[in-house]
Amino acid sequence: MLIAHYSLLITHYSILESMKLTLKIWRQKSASAKGKLETYQVDGIEPDMSFLEMLDVLNEGFVEKNEEPVVFDHDCREGICGTCSLQINGEPHGPDSLITTCQLHMRKFNDGDTIVIEPFRATAFPVIKDLMVDRSAFDRIQQAGGFISVNTSGNTQDANNIPISKEDSDFSFNAATCIGCGACVAACKNASAMLFTAAKVSQFALLPQGKLEANRRVIAMVEQMDKEGFGNCTNTGACELECPKGISLYNIARLNREYLSAITKG
Ligand code: SF4
Ligand code: FES
Repeated sequence: MLIAHYSLLITHYSILESMKLTLKIWRQKSASAKGKLETYQVDGIEPDMSFLEMLDVLNEGFVEKNEEPVVFDHDCREGICGTCSLQINGEPHGPDSLITTCQLHMRKFNDGDTIVIEPFRATAFPVIKDLMVDRSAFDRIQQAGGFISVNTSGNTQDANNIPISKEDSDFSFNAATCIGCGACVAACKNASAMLFTAAKVSQFALLPQGKLEANRRVIAMVEQMDKEGFGNCTNTGACELECPKGISLYNIARLNREYLSAITKG
């Protein structure tokens, strides 16, 4: 009896807490098609659902009605892969800070809210379909120099063979936490990829292993970044503010120093 009463309370609580939302979602059939915002209602959204689970609920409704679901990118759903790149109410990854879209919870919104969901906007990130964009420009920047060429043979060296200061290893590790999500580009009025490129250069620049190819690396990556059509950095800091991994603008300063030093050396 007590259990039945308790479960009734829980059901009642979840009914009270569940939300009805109006979603304005960017729909675009293909890269060449013209897109527009479409309005949908979604019901029964629990505050503890993630933003992507809310979209799953919407899409289940489409599937039941034999209509085309909204296409959006996602993979790990735990802030690691960087694919869940959505512009939510004008902010990359939504209203919370230091999290990705998949880590955003619906308790950040209120019953009756209207939420505008768009793809990341940048010439270098063309829309593939609906909310999914092509971010392979980032892969090409990485491929241009974001690696260390080491011929290995025999046993792997012990990680502690080369002493590295704690400060350098911390800075390098922080830079390496960039997940390539593209929020920095989407947040920037110039669609600049400086924060991403700076993080990828910095993670090697501070370590002895990365110094051998440092000049070639920074020039190749900056050249590729320009070739992809990203804009220039004008130091507004919007990228740092929206970065889910808290990548600091100091990395851009380091990128500029590395680049100047490399071109001076020819
Ligand atoms: S710097 Fe931050 S916002 Fe830009 S790609 Fe990396 S993790 Fe995403
Ligand atoms: S789905 Fe991987 S970071 Fe969001």
